[in-house]
Amino acid sequence: MIRPPFDRLRLSHLPLRVRLLFTGFLLVTCSGLLMAAVQILLTHGMADGKPGLSIEDIKYSYHGNRSGSKLEAMLKGAMKPMAADDVRFQLIQWARDGAPALDWSGHIEPLVQAHCGACHNGQSSLPNFLKLDVLQQAAAVDQGESYSVLTRSSHIHLFSIGFIFMFIGGIFAFAKFPHGLQSVLMVTPFLALFADTLSWWLTKLWPGFAWLTMISGVCYGLAGTIMIAVSLWQMWFTDRVGEE
Ligand code: HEC
Repeated sequence: MIRPPFDRLRLSHLPLRVRLLFTGFLLVTCSGLLMAAVQILLTHGMADGKPGLSIEDIKYSYHGNRSGSKLEAMLKGAMKPMAADDVRFQLIQWARDGAPALDWSGHIEPLVQAHCGACHNGQSSLPNFLKLDVLQQAAAVDQGESYSVLTRSSHIHLFSIGFIFMFIGGIFAFAKFPHGLQSVLMVTPFLALFADTLSWWLTKLWPGFAWLTMISGVCYGLAGTIMIAVSLWQMWFTDRVGEE
């Protein structure tokens, strides 16, 4: 069968300078992807307070933890020994009422001063709860990522990752690989990128969509790794002579 010239072009046939160019790009991109993975683990990965990325982290990051405020969670958790039950109850009630400034002086402030002020007084790295606005922040229900942050990260993500996979796929297009599978690998990152970005918005609205973020991340991670590995291998380690 006479193949059109494009199909006869192989990574291993490329001149040294082009292979160096491609290799430089693939290695830099590969480190970039690894850094991105570490960053995700360090930011989103800790969202639920436990190391490692889980579905809960993704829910907390995009949807927020709407079951209550940080103040309430701490008063029922680590800060439980700091005040008697009725004091904690009043503080939790205040947080649930939306932390109104009206109740601050004369009611909440004296409680905080008496029970929390010994540590949360601005003398350490702990939040200074003697200031109303700081305590109000801790009392706010966590609504997750804001729409403005989502819009910004969505367009940056779509442009930049799209660009990266255009090049990775563009190089991999010259690899010797079963054509059907090759096409699947080249298209997967774009579908996953779209699904990933969409999933942030869906998760913000319905936390049940967090699994979509997880699956799409795994998809472009895998497709990217295979394409980079195969391309590098074929550029440098396959026989250049004797190929069809
Ligand atoms: C004996 C010192 C001490 C007292 C008293 C104390 N805390 Fe804390 N608080 C800490 C320490 C230490 C941390 C950080 C460790 C942690 O997150 O578990 C903390 C963390 C918190 C946090 C989380 C802050 C953040 O942004 O991560 C909240 C909310 C909180 N405390 C509320 C309170 C409230 C309300 C009171 C009073 C009822 C109180 N604490 C009394 C020592 C104290």
